[in-house]
Amino acid sequence: MCGIVGYIGGKRAVDFLLDGLTKLEYRGYDSAGVAVNCGDNIFIEKSVGRLDSLKEKLKNRLPAGTVGIGHTRWATHGRPSDLNAHPHTDCHGNFVVVHNGIIENFMPLKEELIARGHKFISETDTEVVAHLLEEVYTGDFVSAVREVLNKIEGSYSLVFMSKMHPDVLLCAKQENPLVVGLGKGENFIASDIPAIISYTRDTFILNDGEIAIVKKDSVQVINRQGGLVDKKIFHVSWNAEAAEKGGYEHFMLKEINEQPKAVRDTMSKRIAKDGASIILDELNWDKNFLDGINKIYIVACGTAYHAGLVGKFYIEKLVRKLVEVDLASEYRYRDPIVDDKTLVIVISQSGETSDTLAALKESKRLGAKTLAITNVVGSSIAREAENVIHTWAGPEIAVASTKAYTTQLILMFMLALYMAQTAETISGDELKRLINLLKKIPAQISETLSDVEPIKTFARQYGFNEDVFYIGRSLDYCVALEGALKLKEISYIHAEAYASGELKHGTLALIVEGVPVIALATQKSVYDKTLSNIKEVKARDAIVIGIAAAGDTELEKYLDHVIFVPETDELLIPLLTVVPLQLLAYYAAITRGCDVDKPRNLAKSVTVE
Ligand code: M6R
Repeated sequence: MCGIVGYIGGKRAVDFLLDGLTKLEYRGYDSAGVAVNCGDNIFIEKSVGRLDSLKEKLKNRLPAGTVGIGHTRWATHGRPSDLNAHPHTDCHGNFVVVHNGIIENFMPLKEELIARGHKFISETDTEVVAHLLEEVYTGDFVSAVREVLNKIEGSYSLVFMSKMHPDVLLCAKQENPLVVGLGKGENFIASDIPAIISYTRDTFILNDGEIAIVKKDSVQVINRQGGLVDKKIFHVSWNAEAAEKGGYEHFMLKEINEQPKAVRDTMSKRIAKDGASIILDELNWDKNFLDGINKIYIVACGTAYHAGLVGKFYIEKLVRKLVEVDLASEYRYRDPIVDDKTLVIVISQSGETSDTLAALKESKRLGAKTLAITNVVGSSIAREAENVIHTWAGPEIAVASTKAYTTQLILMFMLALYMAQTAETISGDELKRLINLLKKIPAQISETLSDVEPIKTFARQYGFNEDVFYIGRSLDYCVALEGALKLKEISYIHAEAYASGELKHGTLALIVEGVPVIALATQKSVYDKTLSNIKEVKARDAIVIGIAAAGDTELEKYLDHVIFVPETDELLIPLLTVVPLQLLAYYAAITRGCDVDKPRNLAKSVTVE
């Protein structure tokens, strides 16, 4: 997704702009550009493609100015090209703008501006903002920006620079993240914290409707009416290294290996010292509150949706309440049956996914109680929800979500236990037993991670197949969905997951000699049925790789390859079985020479519909 950076201070702005944009590369982009105020003119350079192309164009001609803005674009209006790349300017190059989001009414605005003589050079929605600024400007930059914001509709984070006002950068936020980093004699602007953490840890996180007036030595935040907003400094506690690869070849592999620590962090301070109850300080729900809830929706996208499917099992099993899991992009348009007795849980790693945010807003409008599970403090979803529980997974940079998924599962499990203990639907002994098993999960993930060689071998053997099938029943099916998504998105192999019982209703027709099938068989309650399904595909000469719990002696009788994960309760085993599937996807992508951390056509954070 698009990235924004801005600098105002005493140093050469372009150095920060290029470094900041590099730190935001993980968000995905197709072109990039910078603009630097050089006094009598504004220097602009843009390039389609990776940042390296832009750096190449800037070689030996880096502008000396100390005020500038930069952008990485992920095309929405208009194809990726030099002309469509940001920054954009008005007719005379007096105003320069970078923008994340979508200006929904740009078409009528553009037609009016053209009719009044403005010349457009790009196909973007963003360019209208610069031309509007040119039209309304009468000498007061801040007033002009406020007037422009009143004319545009949609979602945005915007940064404005003007030739006539070289001592200030202005920025505005609406439904797209924006932070201001506070330095000494210099200040920074970015759409995401990793761009600025090597420069400062003190930030202002802008809220919707706020405008920041950023100068070298001061930052003032006002609302759309012009009133001063009293902002609290948010001190970023991440360590700069946490956003680096830490010795691994790819962020994805680093993040897969970070899972033991990530899930430990998620649990930390949330289990009572005596191991007999769950503490979720973020929620002060009581039995009355939960008795008043008659339906629960879990709403999310992609991997977070898959975590929601597992969450449904947890809540239904432990709390005995009906749970529906919805894709956010479907839920928001299908007139869901929601009222004040409904609890809507949204799950989002980034906390910025546009569909999930819209679903959350719609749920609130319909009167539901809302809870967000997210990894990003201060994200739009975290701020919008009534209650928030953070996964504390640390920054996830690779587009493919791994540690976010396992920490979401941990939190869904802890939430279900918390609800069960509060609603009194679980006995004290059972609660203790499950908490005890939960505490073993970090070490068991480490154990699973240590047995990587057979997975590398499978990946090398089957990495060039064009189709792979994943099968399983119950929670194994939920994990199969996640395994197939991982393989698709980073190795570009066509992968599908099926509930094993569905095979004979159609899919079995695709199972022929040599087709790889990954079969999960860990759910004791449906084990025999799963085994029959595995025999069905094996009888058609598929190459079947089994995933089973340690102690399973049955599966090996039928299959040549079985990957074992440590034994635990069948509710918790998805936290272990997903690990070999993540690794299989990773090594298959490596075998095929794919760009693992930045798969084609995908972005880390999907902030447009
Ligand atoms: O940030 P979110 O959790 O809301 O993102 C949701 C999906 O876009 C995300 O999980 C996506 O499916 C990942 N690329 C999967 O690896």
